[in-house]
Parts: sequence; structure tokens; C-alpha cells
Amino acid sequence: MANKLDAAAVLSLCVVLAFTLAGQSAAAGRYYGDKVQDTVRKEVEKAIAYDRSIGPALVRLVFHDCWINGCDGSVLLDKTPTDGTNTEKKAVINIGLAGFQLIDTIKQQLGPNASCADIVAFAGRDAADILSGGKIFYTIPGGRKDGVVSSAKVADANLPESTFDFDQLQNNFNARGFSVEELVVLSGAHSIGVAHLSSYQDRLGRADSTPIDPDYQAALNKTTPLSLLQKGQNPTVPNNVRDETAAFQTDAAYDPVAMGVSPEKIVLDNSYYHNNLVNKVLFESDWVLRTDGDAADKLEEYKENATEWHSDFAAAMVKLSSLPAQGKNFEIRKNCRVTNKQYYY
Ligand code: HEM
Ligand SMILES: *[C@@H]1O[C@H](CO)[C@@H](O)[C@H](O)[C@H]1NC(C)=O
Ligand SMILES: *[C@@H]1O[C@H](CO)[C@@H](O)[C@H](O)[C@H]1NC(C)=O
Ligand SMILES: *[C@@H]1O[C@H](CO)[C@@H](O)[C@H](O)[C@H]1NC(C)=O
Repeated sequence: MANKLDAAAVLSLCVVLAFTLAGQSAAAGRYYGDKVQDTVRKEVEKAIAYDRSIGPALVRLVFHDCWINGCDGSVLLDKTPTDGTNTEKKAVINIGLAGFQLIDTIKQQLGPNASCADIVAFAGRDAADILSGGKIFYTIPGGRKDGVVSSAKVADANLPESTFDFDQLQNNFNARGFSVEELVVLSGAHSIGVAHLSSYQDRLGRADSTPIDPDYQAALNKTTPLSLLQKGQNPTVPNNVRDETAAFQTDAAYDPVAMGVSPEKIVLDNSYYHNNLVNKVLFESDWVLRTDGDAADKLEEYKENATEWHSDFAAAMVKLSSLPAQGKNFEIRKNCRVTNKQYYY
């Protein structure tokens, strides 16, 4: 059913909703009058209240599920008849992917009433709503089906890498029908969450490092020196300098007030654009958005106009959550980690 969406209608509905709801702060307790969506909502609220870092994981899961074979729950699989245990989760690009236990908890409650793909899409939607304080909200229909293939190789070949240059990012997004504007909009998701040192190592003093603020680089050098990788360690840091410790922020010469952003941590907001325009973002793939004229204009626009970013982000998430599943065999999985048939399809 998700395949048959009238994308334009859904997009405009969502934009209207985002405008209507912008300014209302209380995201908590938003319910839908639908058993499946309300169950997802309740569990996501509880999980985020207990540990806010599950929220970024859920938002990222939508991207990593829907980008590969469309929204089909393929990212959740531990094993399939065709891929064995070499599923998307094992892809290098999927380092740090999380949220699987929460998806299982929700699935246990919903049984056959929801596909795993729908749970991923709804949970990511609710996480974005809650982490944005109700400023990013959109409606999406259910009806996605679960796929039965999941390949690490395909994920590594098709998800964008943090070392991509602008053309590579643009091509990757165009291949899924996403524009430069949508690339810039969705990259704002890096206002939340964490990254491993291996994902930004190229930003710490390689001869060809893309520009990064020297104070920020020095602070990263201090907390996570490149030498740790040689010792077999791969620590994480917040994607957003806003979410760093006070000591780090002093080293990084970062002051949210001077930057004109809210200091509140783990909030999905447009602070990413403020950071990017002063070279205080983690990935090369973030910084390179500055190298294209159209993308750079959008960075500036979203920095200046949070309302516009909230509604454009919501619209892009609707489009992402509607990418049609690819393949021949679909089902409603009984267990999100394995296909219903274990030997063949
Ligand atoms: C534009 C291309 C993108 C690239 C190259 C990219 C790359 C990355 C990398 C390398 C990480 C850190 C992984 C790790 O080291 O643990 C990350 C984290 C994250 N990404 Fe992206 N990403 C992209 C787009 C997106 C999109 C479209 C979204 C969602 C709409 C997204 C949401 C996130 C979130 C929320 C995290 C933090 C996850 C957590 O803390 O659990 N990213 N991304
Ligand atoms: C599934 O939906 C049916 C019909 O609404 C309901 O009676 C049943 O309790 C639901 N089961 C679960 C596990 O949610
Ligand atoms: C960070 O460390 C790298 C080497 O690991 C070095 O090349 C670079 O100059 C350092 N940056 C700062 C600002 O100290
Ligand atoms: C911000 O963007 C919204 C939505 O695109 C628009 O209606 C509003 O006029 C913009 N505000 C400013 C100050 O440009």
C-alpha cells in the first residue's frame, strides 16, 4: 500500500500539519486513535524518557531501512535464506546502528497487526516528533510489507559514506529520487546522535582533510585522538558540538548563545546549519554541502529559518518513509530478525 501513495497529496498534507503544529511544544502524549500507531508511540515515549539516545537511533533506522530495497524492514534481519547471516546489519556502513531491541519489544505487543517495516517508520516518526519538541510532525500511512532479503554488500554499496564528496552525495540521493534540497534538509538529522571515530577520522589532520574549525579539531584530537584507532579503540562523540561536555565546548571555542542556538541537548533542530557554516560539523559529507552553490544557499536558508527546516524535514521524512519495497516476496514477519521461512522462498 505504501507503494501506491499519492506522494504529492501526502506531502502537502504533511506540510500543512507541520505548519499547524509548529509552535506547539508538547509532543508528549500525541496519540493517533489507531491501535498500532498508539502502541508504537507509547513505547517510543517510554524508551526516550529512559534514555534519549534511542531517539537518534530510530531516526537513522528509517533512513538505513528505506534507502536499501525501500521500506521493507530489511535492516532488522539477522538471517535470511538467501543472505545467511551476512545481512545489512553487518555492513561497515551500518556501524552504530541501534534500536533493534525496542523494535522487538513493540513487535511483541503488535504481533501480526503491524509489519516490522511499519514499526520502523512509525517509531522514527515519533522519535523525530519527540526530539524536536513537537515541531517536526507528519502523518504516514501503514501497510508496508516486510521483505525477505538483506545483504551487507548491497547496503555498503548503496548507503552514502561520510567521506563522500558533493557529487557522490548528489548522485546517491538522485538515484533514490531525492533532490539536492532534500539532501541538505535530511542532513540536518545530524543535529542529534553520535558517531564513531572511524567515521570522522579523515577530518583529524590528514593532509587532504576538508576544512574543519581548528578549535573544534583540537578538541576532537584531545578527546578522541587518531592514535586510539591504532590501539583498536573506536570511541563515539556527539554529532553535534552542542551535545558535547562543557570542557570540550570550551576547547572548541563553542558558545551556543553566541551561535544563536539553544543549548538544550539532543534536540532535533536547525543547529546543524549554524554549526556547518562555521565548519563545526563532524563529517566530510556534512562540510561538502558548502561546496555547491545551491546546497550552500539552502544551508543559509535553514540556518535563518527554523520553521522552514522543520516543515521541509517533515516532508522529506514522509517521502523517505514511502520509498516502495523492492523484490518479489513479502510478508508480515513474525519476528523482525528472521524471515518467516528459514530455508527457501
Ligand atoms: C547524506 C548522507 C549521510 C551520511 C554520509 C551519513 C553518515 C552518517 C555517519 C557516518 C554516522 C555515524 C555512524 C557511526 O560512526 O556510528 C551517522 C549517524 C547518524 N545519521 Fe547519518 N548520514 C547521512 C544521512 C542521514 C540521514 C538522511 C539521516 C536521517 C534522516 C541520518 C541520520 C543520522 C542519525 C540520527 C545519526 C546518529 C545515530 C545514533 O546516534 O544512533 N543521516 N550518519
Ligand atoms: C490485532 O488487531 C485485532 C483487531 O483490531 C485485535 O482484536 C487484536 O487484539 C490485535 N492484536 C494485537 C496483538 O495487537
Ligand atoms: C589534530 O591531530 C592531527 C594529527 O593526529 C594533526 O595533524 C592536527 O594538526 C591536529 N589539529 C589541531 C588543531 O591540533
Ligand atoms: C520562513 O519559512 C516559512 C516557510 O517556508 C515562510 O512562510 C516564512 O515567511 C519564512 N520566514 C522568514 C522570516 O523568511
